[in-house]
Amino acid sequence: MARVVPYLFLSVLQLVFVSGVLGATFTISNNCEHTVWPGLLSGAGTSPLPTTGFPLQKGESRSISAPTNWSGRIWGRTQCAEDSTGKFTCVTGDCGSGKMECAGGGALPATLAEFTLDGSGGLDFYDVSLVDGYNLPMVVVPQGGSGNCTTTGCVVELNGACPSELRVAAAAGGGGESVACRSACEAFNAPEYCCSGAYATPDTCKPSAYSEFFKHACPRAYSYAYDDSTSTFTCAAADYAITFCPNFSSKKSAATGEGNGRPEAVQPPLVNASMIFTGMEYASDAASRGGAYSRLLAISAWALLAYYS
Ligand SMILES: *[C@@H]1O[C@H](CO)[C@@H](O)[C@H](O)[C@H]1NC(C)=O
Ligand SMILES: *[C@@H]1O[C@H](CO)[C@@H](O)[C@H](O)[C@H]1NC(C)=O
Ligand SMILES: *[C@@H]1O[C@H](CO)[C@@H](O)[C@H](O)[C@H]1NC(C)=O
Ligand SMILES: *[C@@H]1O[C@H](CO)[C@@H](O)[C@H](O)[C@H]1NC(C)=O
Repeated sequence: MARVVPYLFLSVLQLVFVSGVLGATFTISNNCEHTVWPGLLSGAGTSPLPTTGFPLQKGESRSISAPTNWSGRIWGRTQCAEDSTGKFTCVTGDCGSGKMECAGGGALPATLAEFTLDGSGGLDFYDVSLVDGYNLPMVVVPQGGSGNCTTTGCVVELNGACPSELRVAAAAGGGGESVACRSACEAFNAPEYCCSGAYATPDTCKPSAYSEFFKHACPRAYSYAYDDSTSTFTCAAADYAITFCPNFSSKKSAATGEGNGRPEAVQPPLVNASMIFTGMEYASDAASRGGAYSRLLAISAWALLAYYS
C-alpha cells in the first residue's frame, strides 16, 4: 500500500501536467463596489460549462470547472434587473436571453476574457480583449501552470475617460453616468476600424487613434483585431483567477507579471507607468483642451499605481 500511493500520486500528476486532461478551473471574483453578473459563452464545438450566467455580489467568488479543450469567453454584466414581466436585462454586457443564464449571445461593449484551453502544443491561449469595447476593469491571473503564464487584463477604469463619440450612457439619450465605452468598429461600423473589406489583413488594418486610447491605458489588452503579438498569452496546465475591478494593493507581483519567479518574455506593462510621471502634465493639458479624457485616464492610472510602491 505504501508503495502504491506514491505511484498513484505520480500517475495523477502525469495526467495533469503531461496530458493536461483536466481543462482548467476559473475562479471568478467580484472586487467591484457593486454586483456583477458574469456571462459565459462557449465556442462552437466545445463542451458547455456548468453555468452560463449568475450573480456575483460585491466581494464574492465562484469557481467553475472548464472541460478539456474548452474555448470561449467570460465577461461581466452590470446593472441587471428583472422587470415586472420577469424579463432579465442588463445595462451593459446583456446576453439577450431575457434570463440570468445566457443562451449564446452577448451585447457589446464589454471587456472580454477569452480562452482556448489545451490548444496548439498543449498550451492554453488567453487574452483580455477590448476589441468589442469596454465595460469593466478585469484581470486574468494564471495559477500554478508552467510556461510564460503572464498576468493580463485591463485594470484601469475607462468609462469616465471614454472619448465622447464612443461613450455609452446609463440613460437613453446620452444622459447619466458613463457605463461603457464602445469600440470604434461598433461606433462607426467602418472597414478601417473593423479590419474588414479592404482592411482585412494585418498589413492593411492598423491601430487607430481609438484603438490606441485603449492600448495606451491597457498595454496588454487586445485593442483591435490584429493586435495579437502583444495581447495573446500562453500557459500550460494552469487554472485562472478572473477578477472584476481588481485591486492590486496586495498584489504587486501580479501587476508586473513577474510574480511566478519565471523569466518573463519581452512584453508590454500591465499598466502604462509613464502615465504616473506625466499625470500632472496630462491634467493641465487636458484641462486647457477642455477634454476630460486624458485627465481622467492619468488620474485613474495614477491612483492604481500609487498602490504599487
Ligand atoms: C482535445 O483536442 C485534441 C486535438 O484537437 C483531440 O485530439 C482530443 O481528443 C480532444 N480531447 C477531448 C477530451 O475532447
Ligand atoms: C514565452 O514567450 C516567448 C515570447 O512570446 C516565446 O518565444 C516562448 O516560446 C514562450 N515560452 C513558452 C514556454 O511558451
Ligand atoms: C503610455 O501612454 C502614453 C501616452 O498616452 C503613450 O504615448 C505610450 O505609448 C504608452 N505606453 C504604452 C506601453 O502603451
Ligand atoms: C483592496 O485595497 C484596500 C486598500 O489597500 C484593502 O484594504 C483591501 O483589503 C483590498 N481588497 C482586496 C479584495 O484585496
